[in-house]
Amino acid sequence: MKEFPKGFVWGSATSAYQIEGAWNEDGKGPSIWDAFCQIPSKVHLNETGNIACDHYHRFAEDVALMKRMGLKAYRFSIAWTRILPTGKGEINKKGIEFYNDLIDLLLYHDIEPWVTLYHWDLPLALQLEMDGWLNADIADYFAEYADICFQYFGDRVKNWITINEAWVVAILGYGQGVFAPGRTSNVEPYLAGHHLLLAHAKAVDVYRQKYQAQQNGRIGITNNCDWREPLTQNTDDINAAERALEFFLSWFSDPIYKGDYPASMRERLQDRLPTFTPEQQKIIKGSSDFFGLNHYTTMYAAQTKEGQKEVSVYGNGGLSEDQDVDLSVGKDWKLTDMEWAIAPWGCQKLLEWIDRRYDHPEIVITENGCAFPDVLDGREVNDTERIQFVEGYLDACHQAIQNGVNLTGYFLWSFLDNFEWASGYNKQFGLHYIQPDTLRRIPKASADWYAKVIKQNGLL
Ligand code: GAL
Repeated sequence: MKEFPKGFVWGSATSAYQIEGAWNEDGKGPSIWDAFCQIPSKVHLNETGNIACDHYHRFAEDVALMKRMGLKAYRFSIAWTRILPTGKGEINKKGIEFYNDLIDLLLYHDIEPWVTLYHWDLPLALQLEMDGWLNADIADYFAEYADICFQYFGDRVKNWITINEAWVVAILGYGQGVFAPGRTSNVEPYLAGHHLLLAHAKAVDVYRQKYQAQQNGRIGITNNCDWREPLTQNTDDINAAERALEFFLSWFSDPIYKGDYPASMRERLQDRLPTFTPEQQKIIKGSSDFFGLNHYTTMYAAQTKEGQKEVSVYGNGGLSEDQDVDLSVGKDWKLTDMEWAIAPWGCQKLLEWIDRRYDHPEIVITENGCAFPDVLDGREVNDTERIQFVEGYLDACHQAIQNGVNLTGYFLWSFLDNFEWASGYNKQFGLHYIQPDTLRRIPKASADWYAKVIKQNGLL
């Protein structure tokens, strides 16, 4: 029996656009994802989040499912355009009401809400009027929106996450163009990333100045990172792996924990990487009460060989031509339905790397999980692969804790099968199976397998 520290947070996560539906109801304004999904061929089968899991209408049923499976914490995101339909200006009361009801119901069932303010659904108006994350003023609009959320929900929400995965917003949205707003550039990702960091810092500043003392909550940012394992023990490959981690995670974590971007990025990007003013550094440094981490997979990293540069442009490691890193997976590694390698040992190494680099911060895994096709057997799914995955990764977390890492929580992605961005409904990450056409939800496998895994491991 593995013991996790007392008070360890066990939860599951979702995000607004992926589950809510009701995309144009009760005054909600359109987001960049509402628009992106209308462009043919951007999303698998041209699917959209218009209805998704219909959580907006069925949240009470969903919270009842959470209760039934023994969930203790639930991480969800607020849709900016439900609160402010055009991103700024007048508040939409119906949006406030929806999140009030959801938060109250969670608390009634003793489920702790963990609330993300931005999970990629930028108000479309801000994209059209000011180029979204490319405009420095966006940071102020975000802070104003955050202020409203603290004001209305902060009496009950004690765990805030400003931004989910700035790397994805910057690289997939502005570099590779596969996510909204669909731009391709080798300059814009670094500018967008800069403004995402400033937005985060300003929102945290508002929280600390105006709310934290009386509301008594915590606020942080969640960044994503895979592990990068050197392909060989050659110095070049060891350095390549380290550099890959810096371009992935330290891009956003170094400014927060050390006050500036990593030297490797500055050296390679030069003027393409913006600089912080001393005033900005003051609000960015130390702006996270915990280290939120989304972790899914591991790849080998090797120094790019001469003459191969073009091949890896826009590869799956960010703007790889900026890093000179080639990524690959081991021949015998098992892959999930996203073709992401299952490598729990990488999770342990990453946790220990963060612990060393950032001087032993409190870490919360705000997402980890896997997609596997659900094969229905009657009303059930034989979910052994998912169970194995979770057990493997929990074991890695446990090892890391034994080795001194201050990991205090784990959120499984996801509570529901949902709209998986450009993959549409084709990838099933959820604890529960959903048929989007009929909106009928069927409990997964070993119906309460999550509860079972948790209980077997002595975690509750
Ligand atoms: C994360 C993201 C989630 C979910 C998950 C699985 O990057 O925050 O919204 O899509 O990946 O792909």
